[in-house]
This record gives sequence, C-alpha cells and structure tokens, in this order.
Amino acid sequence: MKTIAIAALALGLFARCSAEIPAGQATPARVAAPAAAGDAAAGKKLIDQYACLSCHKIPGFEGPQGSMGPSLEAFATRKAIAGGIPNEPQTVAAYLQNPQAVDPQNRMPPLGITEPEARDITAYLLTLK
Ligand code: HEC
Repeated sequence: MKTIAIAALALGLFARCSAEIPAGQATPARVAAPAAAGDAAAGKKLIDQYACLSCHKIPGFEGPQGSMGPSLEAFATRKAIAGGIPNEPQTVAAYLQNPQAVDPQNRMPPLGITEPEARDITAYLLTLK
C-alpha cells in the first residue's frame, strides 16, 4: 500500500513537473524572442528601402545623405534618443514605428514601419558604435 502511495505521489509530482517546467521555461523564452534584437543585415536593407538616408546620415551607406534629421553616427553609444527616451531596443523600435506616440512634438514622420521591421532596423542602428 505504502509503496503504491509513494509511487502515485512520485508519478503525480513527475506529471506536474513535466507539465509545468518545460512550459515555464518555454514561455519566457518565447515571449522574449520577438522582443530581442532583430536582424541587423535585414535592418540595413530596410533603411535603404525606407529612404532613411534622405533625412539622416547613417554609417555603412554610400551616396548622398540628408540632414533634416540628426546624424545617427555612433547611435549605440547614446543614452537617450528623441529628446529623452532611453536608447534600448524596445523603445527605439517603438519610436521608429510611431515617433509621435513616443513624443507628440516629434518631427520625424511616421513611415508605416511594422514591428518586425522596426526591430531589424533597431538592430542595425545598435551596431553603430
Ligand atoms: C522625412 C525625414 C525623415 C525620414 C525619412 C526619417 N527620419 Fe528619422 N528623424 C527625422 C527627424 C526630423 C528627426 C528628429 C525628430 C525630433 O527630435 O523631433 C528624426 C529622428 C530620428 C531618430 C532619433 C534620433 C535621436 O538621436 O534623437 C532615429 C533613431 C531615427 N530618426 C531613425 C530613422 C530611421 C531608421 C529612418 C528610416 C526608417 C528614419 N529615421 C527616417 C526625420 C526623418
């Protein structure tokens, strides 16, 4: 009897552990993955596509570069951007998607950048040291 009870208890614990631990481990990783840094190489292509260079000087590109917006040289070394938001992957990506949501007075136009695109662009900007 005792053995069965212990076995049942052990089984119960095992079942719970195997159900909970992998799920518990998988969930934060899955949640964190999309928020993690994007793909810098893809971001570089997107910077070209969205014509960021018409307003910004951005290292790594050839040809004419505009000056309506601030230069993004050494972007990764800045503590804050856009007048005070912290220079972190998530805040930069949010800013790129909708600058006015971060600061209604912001002069950068919204460009229709999607969330994954913003993450990739952010990854590229954060390589600029
Ligand atoms: C039409 C011109 C224009 C285009 C196109 C443009 N920007 Fe901007 N951007 C601005 C201006 C102007 C500011 C300054 C906004 C302010 O502080 O009011 C700015 C600010 C920024 C900032 C914050 C810089 C800082 O140090 O505060 C980043 C980052 C940025 N732009 C990235 C981009 C990227 C990446 C693209 C392309 C996807 C892009 N911009 C396209 C005009 C532009």
